[in-house]
Amino acid sequence: MQSFKPITKKLFPTDYQLIDGTDEIFELNLALWEYENLNKEDLIKRSAYFKSVEGKPTIHYQACNLQNLEEIHRNSSLRTKAFFLNGKYSTGYATHSLFPYRGKFHPQMIRALLNMMDIKRGDIVLDPMSGSATLSVEANLLGIDSIAVDISPFCCLMGRVKTFALNLDSKKLNQITKNQEKIFERLNKPKVPDYFIKNSKDGSKPYYEVALLAYLDAMGFARRSSKSLDVLFPVVLNRYVTTIQNFQTAREKLDIQIGKSKIIEDSALNLSLEDGKIDGVITSPPYSFAIDYVDNDKPQLEYLGHEPYKLKENMIGLQGRGISEKLELYFSMLDKVFKELARVTKKESKTIFIVGTNDIQTKGVRLETKIKELAEKQKFKFLFEILKPIKGLQNTMKEEYILIFENNK
Ligand SMILES: C[S@@+](CC[C@H](N)C(=O)[O-])C[C@H]1O[C@@H](n2cnc3c(N)ncnc32)[C@H](O)[C@@H]1O
Repeated sequence: MQSFKPITKKLFPTDYQLIDGTDEIFELNLALWEYENLNKEDLIKRSAYFKSVEGKPTIHYQACNLQNLEEIHRNSSLRTKAFFLNGKYSTGYATHSLFPYRGKFHPQMIRALLNMMDIKRGDIVLDPMSGSATLSVEANLLGIDSIAVDISPFCCLMGRVKTFALNLDSKKLNQITKNQEKIFERLNKPKVPDYFIKNSKDGSKPYYEVALLAYLDAMGFARRSSKSLDVLFPVVLNRYVTTIQNFQTAREKLDIQIGKSKIIEDSALNLSLEDGKIDGVITSPPYSFAIDYVDNDKPQLEYLGHEPYKLKENMIGLQGRGISEKLELYFSMLDKVFKELARVTKKESKTIFIVGTNDIQTKGVRLETKIKELAEKQKFKFLFEILKPIKGLQNTMKEEYILIFENNK
């Protein structure tokens, strides 16, 4: 019998070890790109998929291990614990796990794509439909500045907390745990008290927003479980505080320099940004009408004092009746987004669009094909694509397309 050499041994020298769980084709492709294009020092500092390089552990691997997920999830159910432990190096590190937002990016992959785009410290990246601000968190972890724009005030709250929590004073955060009963009493109203929204003069607002997001997370939890909000809030809040504190320990030990972030509540169709200042974009629009983000987040939006149906009027993917009208409006909105992206990005900068197609829902129309046409109309040059399979039996969407364009004005 012929001897067998696994694919990873053929691709990389034995002293370049991949991080656990790097086993899908798209991940191996991105890891190979990192190996072929980053020098040894950058591989250690920035790589998403390597555990060690010539025997030296990478920053990503060390930071994930310093987070002590066992401690963070000591009070979680076995299922929740297993979910977070599975995502130790891919989805659940740093502040990504603070609110598990539906349809969020795969953070480890975003790190690799930032490397591929050759984005460096001093550059600014933009996500004009930022959701839970995964791009901002990943960019900031690499010391890169970011702008996140989303039309949903709830998403903007998530983005502010997740980016703020990357670099804060752990002692001030402890005050929140100490005062958790009082905080719960204040938050446990039909609508968020103005105190949490407006009181920013003493600089305490970002810390209180951590508690506010934990409250909204617990609110969702309480709807799905038999436990009440007063029982769940302290559990979720303590998970948030421990997650943040553990990351702060990792940040200090490994001297991780965090980039700056701006979170803007605005529409991607009309960005309040200057021309030609953005060095790179990674974004993913709502996948046509696959998820109704307003219905999904209705209780949280109402609690925050917003009228969900007003918000729907400007949401991409939620306009029109019947499939053909819906698609027409969807593409005409994305056309405007590309026009804005062509305006705000630098010449030759890269823009990455990530989109999945569910052709049963769109009656055969392929979103990725149409998106390429819209981008090219605004003078973006299509460079190449990477396919990422979507797992899960219930998903009728089988893969996502990572479409890479260059601003070719
Ligand atoms: C697929 S999700 C993005 C998820 C994000 N990549 C993440 O990692 O969390 C699409 C986002 O587009 C936002 N959106 C919809 N219409 C918008 C508009 N007109 N302007 C800006 N954002 C919009 C939705 O609120 C939603 O958060």
